[in-house]
Amino acid sequence: MSKAKILVTRRIPEAGLKKLGEHCDFTVLSDGPPPSYEDVLEKSRDCDGILALLTERIDDELMGACPRLKVVSNMAVGYNNIDVAAATARKIRVGNTPDVLTEATADMALCLLLAAARRIMEGDRFIRDGEWKTWDPLGLLGLDLAGKTVGIVGMGRIGLSTARRLRGGWGCRILYYGRSRNREAEEELGAEKRELDDLLGESDFVSVHLPASEHTNGMFGEAAFNKMKKGSVFINTARGELHDGDALYRALESGHLFSAGLDVTNPEPLPPDNKLLSLPNVVIAPHIGSATKETRSAMAVMAADNIIAALKGEAMPSCVNKGDLCPGSPS
Ligand code: DGY
Repeated sequence: MSKAKILVTRRIPEAGLKKLGEHCDFTVLSDGPPPSYEDVLEKSRDCDGILALLTERIDDELMGACPRLKVVSNMAVGYNNIDVAAATARKIRVGNTPDVLTEATADMALCLLLAAARRIMEGDRFIRDGEWKTWDPLGLLGLDLAGKTVGIVGMGRIGLSTARRLRGGWGCRILYYGRSRNREAEEELGAEKRELDDLLGESDFVSVHLPASEHTNGMFGEAAFNKMKKGSVFINTARGELHDGDALYRALESGHLFSAGLDVTNPEPLPPDNKLLSLPNVVIAPHIGSATKETRSAMAVMAADNIIAALKGEAMPSCVNKGDLCPGSPS
């Protein structure tokens, strides 16, 4: 019997390709930048599965052009690049890669939070510009983190891991906002659930951990930033769609916010002439929250495992379709 045919849209860590190759025939479409939508569509036409990255839009039209398609596996925990409702209607399973990237992404939230609080980028630039002449008792004063109040917007896996670091490492008071109560966070960390406006008004640091969706996109605009405490810090390691870049610029430029740390931007990639980049009090990373060797390898293997399980008709390690398309899969 011939092996299933898989399109891998971009080169992923070898461990994932090796796993895939044990069960399927696959083609890697791009060794570099994201392929065009048209290219993905053309090359998927006769495929049983697509292993995609968050840079590829997998919509109803594309899936409709692939009569054999049974599974789309995203090598990411977020899947806002895939029309899951359309996939479900076509009985195409959709997989993602939660858990394996939780710790790396929480580490990134802390990297940005500390860098933004302690003005690390400004200090680095200061030295490179030849400005460092002496130890300065008033120079580059930042903010303490110990004992401060941190608002976690979205207390899912990554939010909880971020909160654990803050509570255990710095004794922070943890507030959180989310649809449902997180009893683990409440019992283990003493986290307190708040309405969003209350959380914004009480927190010294706000860290965002929600997926992009029609409910969350644009959540951090002018109004939300105005509700944040004066002199507080905004961190986003989730999706750029959640914040309005212009509103963030104004909140930072006016000094209402002390600083911000972003691993995700809006738009993404952020053009070099974006005005946020003219500000000293924002640190920006190019969406590298999960970018460690171990984590990216684990994501690639999990993405391959999702494809293999779906093609065998077995429970996938992580399936996101609603309904009964993925029996036995955690979601
Ligand atoms: C994800 O997995 O959704 C991240 O944004 C990239 O690792």
